[in-house]
Amino acid sequence: MYLVTGCAGFIGSHLTEKLLEQGHYVIGVDSFTEYYHKNIKENNMKNFIAHKNFTFIRKPIEDITSTDLVFTNLKHVDAIFHLAAQAGVRASWGDNFRQYTIHTFEAAQKMLEVARTLKVNKFVFASSSSVYGDIGTYPTKEHAGELWPISPYGVTKLASEKLCNLYHKAYNLPIINLRYFTVYGPRQRPDMGFMKFLDAIQNNRTIKIHGDGSATRDFTYVSDAVDATIAAATCKSNYTIANIAGGSRVNLNEVMDVLRHVTGKEVRIENIPEQLGDVKHTYADIETAKSLLNYNPKVKLEDGLTNQYKWYKDEFSKLQ
Ligand SMILES: NC(=O)c1ccc[n+]([C@@H]2O[C@H](COP(=O)([O-])OP(=O)(O)OC[C@H]3O[C@@H](n4cnc5c(N)ncnc54)[C@H](O)[C@@H]3O)[C@@H](O)[C@H]2O)c1
Repeated sequence: MYLVTGCAGFIGSHLTEKLLEQGHYVIGVDSFTEYYHKNIKENNMKNFIAHKNFTFIRKPIEDITSTDLVFTNLKHVDAIFHLAAQAGVRASWGDNFRQYTIHTFEAAQKMLEVARTLKVNKFVFASSSSVYGDIGTYPTKEHAGELWPISPYGVTKLASEKLCNLYHKAYNLPIINLRYFTVYGPRQRPDMGFMKFLDAIQNNRTIKIHGDGSATRDFTYVSDAVDATIAAATCKSNYTIANIAGGSRVNLNEVMDVLRHVTGKEVRIENIPEQLGDVKHTYADIETAKSLLNYNPKVKLEDGLTNQYKWYKDEFSKLQ
């Protein structure tokens, strides 16, 4: 039996679906935060909401009654996949920061308490490449140097990682922190780059690119991220940090070429000033994931974007 928090979200819904396909029992927790529309989250869950091995708890994690609910309902949880969070780099400045301290930092603490009480075999935490900031060493190993995130979001993820480390040391809780690098594919969050680009192309608008397009990202297709996440639940290590990246490191100008090819449409670009909090490059060393999780990212950017474009047209565009 597995517990997945954030099961209605982009990555969490794919993870839940795959675990159920593999024959596992899954308890899903999600409060449908208002960061993006609930219709999208309901659609994310449509393939498994009625699955006989799935139980859904629609509650905010930071609400203590929801953790009570988790305690009373659950007896044998093999692992917790903690994906619920306030995601998104750009929205983390200013008044919005509270959403990040509540849904990312506080929620992590609540789930760590649940994990130690239930004595799970593994707490899998969804961390982020944002913890690296502009580290300057590429490809970046997990222990490449001091971590100085350049967005408030990155700070809350790093603080949550530290909390994981503390719970491991204090309670011997087995933990793996997965640092995901820009995950994409069907169900991607509407605030993420590829979704904005596809939306602009489809509606004949100009794509606004922050900077000159030379920024690079190590893009990770969602099924690859999910494979690594599932492997993390049963991996041998008692405490690890592992980069999860796709090996499709390209700059934004190259992304535009792929989009032209995938959509068969005209792609017009306007370069606008860089955005506070956006790192210049991400490029991961994935040797830890390869050796520990048998991780081997399979999906190429063009194929992954083709799948995402199809989903955008067939499903997302009808949900608005
Ligand atoms: N998508 C990426 O490229 C990426 C990269 C790095 C890290 N991550 C991390 O992976 C995880 C999943 O990301 P995603 O893109 O699927 O995000 P998402 O926003 O689609 O999913 C998160 C889900 O968590 C739920 N949630 C948030 N706070 C909650 C709370 N307090 N109680 C219950 N439910 C709550 C939301 O309603 C949402 O459905 C997040 O922790 C994110 O920070 C994602």
